[in-house]
Amino acid sequence: MTKPFTRILFGGDYNPEQWPREVWDEDIRLFKMAGINSATINVFSWAKLQPDENTYDFSQLDEIVALLGRAGIDIVLATSTGAMPAWLAKKYPEVTRVDFEGRRHLYGGRHNHCPNSLVFQKYAGRLVEQLARRYGGNPHIVCWHISNEYNTGCYCENCAKAFRVWLKKKYGTLEAVNDAWNTSFWGHTFYDWDEIVPPSILSEGMDFGGLRKTNFAGMSIDYDRFLSDSLLENFKMERDIIRRYDPDTPVTTNLMGTYKGPDYFKWAKEMDIVSWDNYPAYNTPWSYTAMCHDLMRGLKGKPFMLMEQTPSQQNWQPYNSLKKPGQMRAQSLQTVAHGADTVQFFQLRRSKGGCEKFHGAVISHSGSSETRVFREVARLGKELAGLGGSLLGAESPAEAGVLFDWDNYWALEYASGPSADLTYCDQIHRYYRCFYNRHIPVDMVPVDGDLSRYKVIAAPVLYMVKEGVAEALARFVRQGGVLITGFMSGIVDESDNVHLGGYPGPLRELCGVWAEEIDALAPGQQNTLRFGDWTEAGCALLCDILHPEGAETVAQYGADFYAGTPAVTRHAFGKGTVYYVGTQPDEAGLAKILDMAVQDAGARPAIADETALEVTRRVKDGKEFLFILNFTGAEQPVPESLRGETDRLTGEKLPEIFPPFGAALVVREA
Ligand code: GLA
Ligand code: ZN
Repeated sequence: MTKPFTRILFGGDYNPEQWPREVWDEDIRLFKMAGINSATINVFSWAKLQPDENTYDFSQLDEIVALLGRAGIDIVLATSTGAMPAWLAKKYPEVTRVDFEGRRHLYGGRHNHCPNSLVFQKYAGRLVEQLARRYGGNPHIVCWHISNEYNTGCYCENCAKAFRVWLKKKYGTLEAVNDAWNTSFWGHTFYDWDEIVPPSILSEGMDFGGLRKTNFAGMSIDYDRFLSDSLLENFKMERDIIRRYDPDTPVTTNLMGTYKGPDYFKWAKEMDIVSWDNYPAYNTPWSYTAMCHDLMRGLKGKPFMLMEQTPSQQNWQPYNSLKKPGQMRAQSLQTVAHGADTVQFFQLRRSKGGCEKFHGAVISHSGSSETRVFREVARLGKELAGLGGSLLGAESPAEAGVLFDWDNYWALEYASGPSADLTYCDQIHRYYRCFYNRHIPVDMVPVDGDLSRYKVIAAPVLYMVKEGVAEALARFVRQGGVLITGFMSGIVDESDNVHLGGYPGPLRELCGVWAEEIDALAPGQQNTLRFGDWTEAGCALLCDILHPEGAETVAQYGADFYAGTPAVTRHAFGKGTVYYVGTQPDEAGLAKILDMAVQDAGARPAIADETALEVTRRVKDGKEFLFILNFTGAEQPVPESLRGETDRLTGEKLPEIFPPFGAALVVREA
């Protein structure tokens, strides 16, 4: 067990090395005004700490650490290995990456080291050793932050060699590799390990108008697993060095929500605490952001850190709209509602040069505290401080689970056909959103997670069914659970080879239905769902042509040559029920199906009232913390059952009407 936080960390990325010394004192003054109690430092300072191969210089970092310590500001200390110094790349070109297009990169950018470069590992390891020895045990350091936003993608000669080693370990023999990848397809049989090269665009990779596809998904998925593992080894190397000098300060690295790169479930097992960077676009649905938070909480099944968000604007999206008055506060509280124990920004002071000079910060280019953003940050800082440690570690009980799996994510999106518009996170989100709209708390669950904790589980596009998963789902249902799955499920095994014998393969008996064919509908094309109660809904994207084998029909298709055949089915299995949704219903259609499932399961919402507000619940020491948030863009009445309650943030009675981005916290006996 590492040391827990004693207060909600409120602060964020701070880069004093970009500023003259005089500015630092002003920063501290402004931090105090804004209630900022923590700073994440040293994220991109490698070049400063190590001007050449043999010289280390910690004088400036010493000063920064001392300054923050004196000011009582908690430090999240990064290791700086997310951006390499130029001299390293000049002297050892192998530290840079070879990209998917096969191009060796020159020095530039960040987050771009080759994970399998021994040179990179050596110099990163040395730097971290110096940092850990120097600062390990410093009482002001509350967390270590390794590298920054690890992302995958190197196809170099070193990675090729390491990939072969990884394959030997996984498969033992070349025969097993050939078998797993089904290389008899197109006559790609390998007779020598060295014949295997990374699946870049120069080999098995394909570019389908911007979509990354592959001739051999089995190989490409293994390569993704290998890259994820390679970077994870980098992380573990740094973590283990830190551990030698500092046994009990938590170690993290900042993740990126539904980012497709590393397998975060696997990573989280190696991290003391999950942290992540939340950067929704101006049009990201609030339910999607909520889902990301729940996913990050689900990685360890524990509260997480919000390592970064912008106080107002981003710079790297096509349209970087301002956060509207109250939006940053509501968004931050949504994060806490879904399990965050910290609220941190990128960044505290806005850079004057470089590509992020238009990125929002607590302190703007004006340098003034008299800005809208500063005032909003200061208000939130005060409110969070008012909570003290009361909320830290609070749990997020959920009776509904949604399965999420990076192998599935990679595999589904590698598939050539049946539709180019099929994207993993969108499908997952459609189901998540139904629960969200009903205020039903959700856990995002790995496929090897403990399913027995839930009453209802949605497993949309469970394309890859790995060993043990079908059995676990069957056990869950047999014991009374309600499962919802559907098209593009049960199709392949962990090597992306089809489970023969009819879709959904190993889920067929459980679902009581099989899919003979899968029709793809082009954009604009629709079919209809006809429910037993004569109501109708639209459906699109894919349509399974189904044959029930024990399941009853919930809805039929209304059109095409399969009109009148089942589109959605329901199967009693053991003490439980399985819904199979053979197509992509419109929002109302899916909501109707999920309502049936939720009712069968008896899964309870966080609040019984009908309301368009987000109501999210955490629980600690017999108390419940109910966050009430208005993301609807319109005024909303206070839910009846909460009328007269006190808002713990302001100390005032809840308003009758919540304005857009209105937010409140009710604390009461659970
Ligand atoms: C990421 C990085 C930060 C910064 C922000 C800008 O999250 O970790 O260093 O570049 O994006 O939004
Ligand atoms: Zn490489």
